[in-house]
Amino acid sequence: MTSLFNQLFGKRDGATASSDGALVGNSGGEVKIEYTSETITTAVLEQMAATSNPRLKTIMAAAVKHLHAFAREVNLTPSEWIKGIEFVTRVGQMSSPARQEVILLSDTLGLSTLVNTMHDKTAVEEATQTSLLGPFFREDAPAMKAGEQIAKRDASQEIVLYGRVTNKRGEPLAYAQVGVWQTATDGRYDMQVDETTMDCRGVFQTDANGDYLIRAVRPLGYYIPMDGPVGDMIKAQNRHGMRPAHIHFLISAVGYREMVTALYLADDDHLTDDVVFGAHGDLVVAIEENAPACPVPNARSIKFDFALSVESEADRLSGRVGADPSKIAGVQS
Ligand code: BEZ
Ligand code: FE
Repeated sequence: MTSLFNQLFGKRDGATASSDGALVGNSGGEVKIEYTSETITTAVLEQMAATSNPRLKTIMAAAVKHLHAFAREVNLTPSEWIKGIEFVTRVGQMSSPARQEVILLSDTLGLSTLVNTMHDKTAVEEATQTSLLGPFFREDAPAMKAGEQIAKRDASQEIVLYGRVTNKRGEPLAYAQVGVWQTATDGRYDMQVDETTMDCRGVFQTDANGDYLIRAVRPLGYYIPMDGPVGDMIKAQNRHGMRPAHIHFLISAVGYREMVTALYLADDDHLTDDVVFGAHGDLVVAIEENAPACPVPNARSIKFDFALSVESEADRLSGRVGADPSKIAGVQS
């Protein structure tokens, strides 16, 4: 199968180099080629002009224009440029099936949230606010029965999550899948403990009324992985590197746009300075004590109703929202 990389960057049949650089004159039979800090941009764009894939052509032309404009704006020096190259090299070297440093870079630079925000605008209907998928999502989470506890190691800080999954008109979506994952009470995801542990995650189903019921534990805010180049960048920028406490959800129902989102605990100090810009006001929830509507009596609980947009033809082709590390060519375990 042709990979997306090959579709976008693969060689054109019979392609030949076509750019002639900046031909500025011909003196005495000698061709004089001279690039200035301005004409170099035009020369590169001309050389790339024959790109057959129109979307690739648009993306690469804009990338070159902005990259060159950036270098001109900061008057990038050779030693700074090498530092940048070293940084990008380390980001690549740090990445593995278990650790996606490139996604982390995208997250901490706000690019992931920018791309997701633009994608959200393409939904056929306005749905519940989305949030980052993050690097700790796993495809192989266990199927669980309504009301089951997802925390296997330590369920001492139990909270009940309940509510309804509906469409935009508030009609319940029966038997929708509700995937949930979060940190354990110690602030770590299972895969940060070891690769084989499965904890604090599960896939539930709504009932015939669209209602879901999950037993979970109070999540803790946590530091993103700080021991790599992205951590070095965060420290150099005097950023704290923390995410506010949250619970991830991935909700799907046949005929509806898959929803990737998370709920954020209202009492966390880092809601407004989340290092990956994932928190959103619409997703902030408070833990209630003994809420009368909670199906589990005398519990601490969070109630949240999720509304899904109908799926468009474009949604079917666009793939999962959020950068899912397991979908990146070349990093599968
Ligand atoms: C997370 O929520 O799991 C996450 C998202 C982005 C970067 C690091 C962690
Ligand atoms: Fe998370």
